[in-house]
Amino acid sequence: MADESEKNGAGQTAELSSEEEKQAEETQRALLERPQISIRLRITLSFLLLFIILCGMGIASFLFITQFDSKQKFLETTSNYAFEVQQARRYEKNFFLYGTNLKDALSNVQAAQNVLRFDREDMISVIGDEKFTEMEQSLNRYEALLNRVHSLHRSSNPADSLKLIPLESDLRKYGSEILANASSAINQERLEIYRLISTGKFAVVVSLIFFLLSIGYIISFLTRQILRPINRAIEYTQRIAEGDFSPVKPMRKYRDEFSNLAMALNRMIHEIRAHQDQLTQSRKMAAIGNLTAGIAHELNNPLNNISLTTETLLEDFDDYSKEEKLKMLHDIFDQVERAGSTVRNLLDFTRVEKPIFTSVSVSELVNTTLKLLKNEFTLNDIQVEPEIDKNLPPVNGNPKNLQQVLLNLLLNGVQAMPDGGTLKVKSTLKKDGFIRIDVTDTGIGIPSEYIDKIFDPFFTTKEVGKGTGLGLAVSHGIIENHKGKITVLSKIGKGTTFSVFLPYQINPL
Ligand SMILES: Nc1ncnc2c1ncn2[C@@H]1O[C@H](COP(=O)(O)OP(=O)(O)OP(=O)(O)O)[C@@H](O)[C@H]1O
Ligand SMILES: [Mg+2]
Repeated sequence: MADESEKNGAGQTAELSSEEEKQAEETQRALLERPQISIRLRITLSFLLLFIILCGMGIASFLFITQFDSKQKFLETTSNYAFEVQQARRYEKNFFLYGTNLKDALSNVQAAQNVLRFDREDMISVIGDEKFTEMEQSLNRYEALLNRVHSLHRSSNPADSLKLIPLESDLRKYGSEILANASSAINQERLEIYRLISTGKFAVVVSLIFFLLSIGYIISFLTRQILRPINRAIEYTQRIAEGDFSPVKPMRKYRDEFSNLAMALNRMIHEIRAHQDQLTQSRKMAAIGNLTAGIAHELNNPLNNISLTTETLLEDFDDYSKEEKLKMLHDIFDQVERAGSTVRNLLDFTRVEKPIFTSVSVSELVNTTLKLLKNEFTLNDIQVEPEIDKNLPPVNGNPKNLQQVLLNLLLNGVQAMPDGGTLKVKSTLKKDGFIRIDVTDTGIGIPSEYIDKIFDPFFTTKEVGKGTGLGLAVSHGIIENHKGKITVLSKIGKGTTFSVFLPYQINPL
């Protein structure tokens, strides 16, 4: 709201002592000296770790599939090989029973040799070089025997037929050996495949658990690294807003983006304090200027009038009638009174000795003050609406001083309503140990540019002779003496509320 103004009368001042300055510098240095590990680096490392885990899982799956594939191929090849050998053995038996199919047996043996030749590398990779050579040699031996049988069979020499008999048992022996080797390789490989599948299943479950755990850890790590400092930064800003300007201290072992934020906050605290000091200093100077000009003005006016009247009286004493002389002397007396009242007000404002405090009833205080101003209210067409709780606890204070505060506030209210209006006086018991007295008028209001100055001594907007500008300054001093505070809320054209807060006695004597 542009035209609504607020001010806390009990303002704070802050001074940047060299001790605090040293402390701030030390904190800033401590923040700067930390080894730097930025949040960005930590996030990158976390994702890199996740990426490595994923890559590892990918590579492991690829290796698993490749191995599975080669074993599958081996099974296929060995089955083909076994099939060819079985065929050869069938023809070999036919040959010994019926004397037929020997060539077929040979061609099956060659087909089995081809299988071994084509898939040599794959098979070696699965069963190893030694076993493969063994298989190859057995097959070659078997082929050699078959070739020998073939040549003996074709021979016309009857002695050769006899040589066939021992060869038959050799052939059987090698043939069954080759088949037994092939089927043992197949069985062994099948077992390997089953083992591979169950290891694969286990590996998938374990890596999934590991992956989920890593994600959980990374999330909690990032939350700790980011959310905690954010919450701390919020606490710092709240603390600064409440007027605590102690520097933000390093909380982490490493320097990161939040350390930079802490350093920026410390710089900001330093700047705010420096500006506040400058402002306090310039306000002090302005207040002293105002005070001096006010005293000079308030005393000069009556002194001028006294001097003029006395001069006239001295020069033309005999020319004036007795009544005129008396009137002039009364004028002089009035001016002396005016100067005296200014001096009294000033003394009130600067009084150092402590007034005597007693137990004061707020309702009585308000009622007697309102009675004092009864005529003033009637003359200015003012409606008074008191809302005073009779059961309020008493306050510890000086009745005369407190009455002076109420008089000042009520008179200011009356003067702010030249065409009449309503003046409310309300008292409430607050939970924080204070009694609040609100004095609200429906007057002209205070412009926002004046709100900061109304408690300054000699600040007045009233005509010469009507106000000294000491009323609120004196009231502010009195309330501070009572360990209370005075605030104002005003809206142009609507009115003003002054609120006085006084601590009440919990155990009145
Ligand atoms: N209720 C009010 N409504 C509007 N303006 C106010 C009110 N109370 C105070 N003011 C403003 O604050 C100024 C200072 O008030 P203060 O009581 O200190 O001095 P004063 O009333 O001018 O003179 P006096 O010394 O006679 O009290 C006033 O001149 C006026 O401009
Ligand atoms: Mg006043």
